[in-house]
Amino acid sequence: MKKLLTIIGARPQIIKAAALNRAIQSKFSNELTEVLVHTGQHYDHGMSQVFFEEMGIPKPDYNLGIGSGSHGQQTGRMLDAIEQVIIKEKPDALVIYGDTNSTLAGALAAAKVHVPVIHIEAGLRSFNKRMPEEVNRITADHASTLLFSPTKVGLRNLKKEGFRPLNEAQEIGKADLDNPYVFHCGDLMYDNTLFYSDKADEYDSLFVERGIDKGNYVLTTIHRPQNTDDINILSGILNALNQISLEDGVQMVLPLHPRTANKILQSNDAAIKRAQENQNFKIIEPVGFLEMILLEKNAKMIMTDSGGVQKEAFFVKKPCVILRPETEWTEIVECHCAILAGSNPEKIKAGYQHFKTNPITEFPDVFGDGKAAEFICQSIIDHLN
Ligand code: UD1
Ligand code: UDP
Repeated sequence: MKKLLTIIGARPQIIKAAALNRAIQSKFSNELTEVLVHTGQHYDHGMSQVFFEEMGIPKPDYNLGIGSGSHGQQTGRMLDAIEQVIIKEKPDALVIYGDTNSTLAGALAAAKVHVPVIHIEAGLRSFNKRMPEEVNRITADHASTLLFSPTKVGLRNLKKEGFRPLNEAQEIGKADLDNPYVFHCGDLMYDNTLFYSDKADEYDSLFVERGIDKGNYVLTTIHRPQNTDDINILSGILNALNQISLEDGVQMVLPLHPRTANKILQSNDAAIKRAQENQNFKIIEPVGFLEMILLEKNAKMIMTDSGGVQKEAFFVKKPCVILRPETEWTEIVECHCAILAGSNPEKIKAGYQHFKTNPITEFPDVFGDGKAAEFICQSIIDHLN
């Protein structure tokens, strides 16, 4: 039996952890056991607890209660607290997801005390090191022993940074920090979208309850610091979305991340006020995962700066205008299923018009078969020493 210490903290990590936990419980409970550590990076009910309830994730064994803070403060407090849990639990490996400050803290804490790190969602790069996530993911990858990349592009990125292909690493010897094993596994979030798609339909009453015009709305999410820190940039994005809504008679549905909500609350910006006054611009609290899948499935289009939501748009075969100048998920842009608009209002409006007049005919198969979690579990059993 191998004991995994899993670090979660931010909303998307809780969602990803659900897929692995489900696989462990249903197929690998004789070989793998999981101790869940929630750093407390996200703590509002709608950013954390709701996912445990909906997705049947066990209550975390530890909640470190770190909360919000500057990067240094937050990461430093997590590092200290995670190290203590590692020393107490003596796991065989530590599992981290994605690229948040919780990911970074977990990677550093474990690597320094010689506990192997398993990084799920390895290899992704935006090639923009001003994004905190880029620094986090590069550091996490280079502190890891087993790296699971959801895409072939991720594998290529790792190779360029000096990681050996799996067969070469295996010839050298067992996996360890100086001889990491890199796997191509498919996307855990695709596992989740497939698993919850039908169940999400049971939440259909949401459309009537919230006055959302099923099939005739754009689903949008905004939370990146580069889109929210400067109120003029945020105002430009919301103004562009509002103009689309007013000119085309289409609803905007925006489940609002708390970072963005705080900015909007503090602002007296006229364009933001106009968007808030538009009856067809539905600014709502963050929703649970099942409601989110339902909203994605029934949207006309998706506009987002979220990593997860741009992929889910692809999973549910919806066009996506990415509110970022670059993406780690380059495949979806290369196959013309998504467009990069950044925060430029004209590009956002042009992106909407493009997809309105050019429906997408093909969504190629780039994120695996919906069994990434099983592959990861089996690889851990086979290769973790
Ligand atoms: C974090 C991740 C980001 C990820 C996102 C997912 C880092 C550096 N960033 O960004 O990669 O895409 O999570 O959503 O780790 N807040 C609340 N309630 C909460 C959580 C946050 O009010 O439950 C507010 C606080 O004012 C906080 C702000 O949101 O300061 C930002 O939260 P934080 O976790 O620092 O960053 P995110 O923008 O959520
Ligand atoms: N999500 C959700 N409710 C919301 C917004 C997003 O359940 O109101 C889900 C979404 O379906 C995806 C994940 O949260 O699975 C993405 O998280 P987020 O956008 O916060 O972070 P990112 O993926 O950009 O790191």
